[in-house]
Amino acid sequence: MKKITIAIDGFSSTGKSTLAKQLANHLGYIYVDTGAMYRAVTLFAMQNGYINADSFDKQTLINSLPNIKLQFKFNADLGFAEMYLNEVNVETEIRTIEVSSFVSKVAEVSEVRAKLVEQQKEMGKDKAIVMDGRDIGTVVFPDAELKIFMTASATTRAQRRYDELVAKGDTVTFEEVLANVEERDYIDTHRKDSPLVMAEDAIEIDNSHLNRKEQFELVLELVNEITKTI
Ligand code: DC
Repeated sequence: MKKITIAIDGFSSTGKSTLAKQLANHLGYIYVDTGAMYRAVTLFAMQNGYINADSFDKQTLINSLPNIKLQFKFNADLGFAEMYLNEVNVETEIRTIEVSSFVSKVAEVSEVRAKLVEQQKEMGKDKAIVMDGRDIGTVVFPDAELKIFMTASATTRAQRRYDELVAKGDTVTFEEVLANVEERDYIDTHRKDSPLVMAEDAIEIDNSHLNRKEQFELVLELVNEITKTI
């Protein structure tokens, strides 16, 4: 079967990564979570004191970009690739609410975006890839054969995120998580460089009322149709 590029964009906590992982596993494709890359750069900025609740030293972060090495390494037990920052596994650390609260600010920086987009394009040069993020169908792979844009209400998304964090033992309130989701939506859709918009040729899926299986089957059908026609 012909290999294609699948771009999955959408708001935070719409289940993009769940769908992307399912597709990649089923099709034998590479899965790339680009949010993890922005999160790892954010963690680097936090570790070095370039960003905190009061300030953001953007220029020093930009100057330090050559010192940031990002890699995905496949973990066979988990069935997906984990994020490494300068050779250290940061998969758990990048998912905390602290990282989530700063990541949109870091993702607004054009120099950060340029570095990550270049790496993402390189990862997808042989197709057979499912990549999720905010600008995959618009900037990273504008020629992707299949573009999905996922949405769900802010409350639905906050509830999912809250359940995940609590299951991991994080002590957060639902209100905190909802505020974070809404703030990120605002920054992601209003930033100057590559704001979150649906590509004209993307297919929108509102999954507020779809379960994982239904959603997966819907998209798999689209993949099958496309691979038949090219
Ligand atoms: O998908 P996520 O919630 O892990 O993404 C974290 C943040 O990174 C999100 O607030 C927006 C940003 N992001 C981005 O700007 N572009 C991408 N391709 C992926 C994520």
